[in-house]
Amino acid sequence: MTALADNESKLTSLSRSLVGKTALVTGAASGMGRATSRVLASEGVRVAVTDLNEDGIRSVAEEICAAGGQAEAWPLDVADPEMIIAVVAAVAKRFGGLDVLVNNAGVSLGAPVDAEGYETVWQRAFEIMLTGQVRLIRAALPHLERSDAGRIINIASTEGLGASRGISPYTAAKHGVVGLTRSLAVELGARGITVNCVCPGPIHTGMTSAIPDEHKEKFARRRVPLRRYGAPEEVAHVIASIALPASSYLNGAVIPVDGGLTAKGD
Ligand code: NAI
Repeated sequence: MTALADNESKLTSLSRSLVGKTALVTGAASGMGRATSRVLASEGVRVAVTDLNEDGIRSVAEEICAAGGQAEAWPLDVADPEMIIAVVAAVAKRFGGLDVLVNNAGVSLGAPVDAEGYETVWQRAFEIMLTGQVRLIRAALPHLERSDAGRIINIASTEGLGASRGISPYTAAKHGVVGLTRSLAVELGARGITVNCVCPGPIHTGMTSAIPDEHKEKFARRRVPLRRYGAPEEVAHVIASIALPASSYLNGAVIPVDGGLTAKGD
């Protein structure tokens, strides 16, 4: 550490430390949720690692604790409203509050608009990726309000900003996440809670693992200025930056983390 970094507190009044904060991350057994839990824990955050996948959350919590961080596993299906209320209350009680909510859980749910069973796919996509987020927010609100730096960070997608063919349930739900973020940023700002949204581009996670490598490479060369898929950790660090006390004036922002995909015009 340089002398300047040592003396940082003399040059800025805002804190870049997350030590002692508490966070709840959904969909934390895999991909970006796992990476976000690890990055937050490495910054001194006590993390509630939640997911449908019980083995997955246990192993993520164990790997964080083995590395000296603080994490606990909580089974949570974000499509289950009663479970959301119970888990958020239990986490807040156990941690003595809640500072950061990361609404990350998601599934790859798409179908052509005239497909049989389309409405079931549509409802499931909205239940998990949009209604689940607002239910988590409603349950967490009283706890976030008591924090001196309450943060809601919703994970949307570049599909929340544009559209790919044949996946309208996913795309519409992710556009909904962007709208929910902006709406609640306006509503909750006066209560001292910021609401922001991250829109990942193509990232190597469980969700994209079935796409053959040559398809990924072809897509990345054509669409992504950085010419590659991103790593989950590259998104997790942006999420952790939004959680910083110093990010106190960031509210209602919709932030692409996509290697330049949405900036590219040709
Ligand atoms: P992933 O498949 O690696 O992880 C998603 C996690 O969500 C899994 O552990 C899964 O068990 C969990 N999950 C699914 N349904 C759930 C439910 N009902 N309740 C609780 N947990 C549930 O996928 P990834 O990529 O890390 O996804 C994280 C978020 O990022 C999702 O919202 C996804 O839509 C979004 N995203 C992913 C992109 C990518 O290229 N991988 C691009 C843009 C957005």
